Amino acid sequence: MTKLWTVNGEHPAAEALQEAAGCIRDGLTVAFPTETVYGLGADARSSEAVAAIFEAKGRPSDNPLIVHIATRSQLEELTVPPDEAVSRLMDAFWPGPLTVVLPVRAGVLSPLVTAGLSTVGLRMPDHPVALQLIAAAGCPIAAPSANRSGRPSPTHAAHVLEDLAGRIAGVVDGGPTGVGLESTVVEFDAEGALHILRPGGITTAQLRAALPGVQVLEPAASEHEPEPAAPRAPGMKYAHYAPRGAMVLVQGGAPEQVRARMQRELEDAHARGERTGVLTYREHADAFRAERVVACGSLGDLETVAHGLYAALRDFDEAGISFIVAEACPEEGIGAAIMNRLRKAAGGHIIHV
Ligand code: TXA
Ligand code: MG
Repeated sequence: MTKLWTVNGEHPAAEALQEAAGCIRDGLTVAFPTETVYGLGADARSSEAVAAIFEAKGRPSDNPLIVHIATRSQLEELTVPPDEAVSRLMDAFWPGPLTVVLPVRAGVLSPLVTAGLSTVGLRMPDHPVALQLIAAAGCPIAAPSANRSGRPSPTHAAHVLEDLAGRIAGVVDGGPTGVGLESTVVEFDAEGALHILRPGGITTAQLRAALPGVQVLEPAASEHEPEPAAPRAPGMKYAHYAPRGAMVLVQGGAPEQVRARMQRELEDAHARGERTGVLTYREHADAFRAERVVACGSLGDLETVAHGLYAALRDFDEAGISFIVAEACPEEGIGAAIMNRLRKAAGGHIIHV
């Protein structure tokens, strides 16, 4: 049985959070909202508790977990004293959607959390439920996104239950999450350059503005290289953030050409007997014919796209869509993180027109 606590996201009832925190102290797993996506939390010091996270998600054990804290004073037990650049990041973006990878202090966290690395990803989420739950539990909380491994991350408590009901002790439902995509994960190298390991809620421009004089490097260009455009067979390969149907991402210069190519892909798929879906934006919702047309936010405000993206991917599953054609968005600001997730959801199947 998975227990459900429904709380006000801004002013969560203390009693519900005490119960949920009690579960965490008892070594159980509890899902909770953050400003990015729902996380599946457990006591980061306990290997038994952390093992239960990997088990519930079906997550490969070589993928380390982010550790969530509620106050800066919790840092000292987990890592070395932050230098000036690290402090500047924390001052600028905590609480908020930034995970900083730092050297881990020996013997405090379960080695399962760091997957054997000498570093740990730390973040202070900007959500009253998350902050109050961590404080009430009285321990650092390890929390990956609360989805089955490979599925789109959950932005509503209902998504958590879809994937994990019966596999975890409880869910604190604090309403839909804000940003909708995961935190940006960063790490400094020995030369002092900052590497973005995963684009997310904090943009490259925001990082550069907070760290004048520091080199900020985006993920390796190889990640952007196109792969063969042949659509993968549904369910054949396990991709990240992926809906159940196959997905192809179409990008290029002239918007009319992109949309014409998308419609052709849809028609070809329909002729093959696929149930077709299209992932587009409010501005273009009328441009396509498909069994399911999902307008995911507005191109004029990419934060609305980030907010709705994972729910949109799950929507196709609900509708039994077997082939999805997705429209690229500009890679500006949060658009870089959106495109990173779309590429992964498409399993690298990208058509450049
Ligand atoms: O917004 C978020 O970050 C959400 C919420 C729940 O906080 N959490 C999340 O966790 O997205 P997860 O486990 O789904 O993604 C963690 C990412 C993975 O890509 C992992 O490889 C990376 O962070 N990561 C964690 N620790 C790391 C480390 N020590 N070195 C490098 N990468 C690390
Ligand atoms: Mg995840």
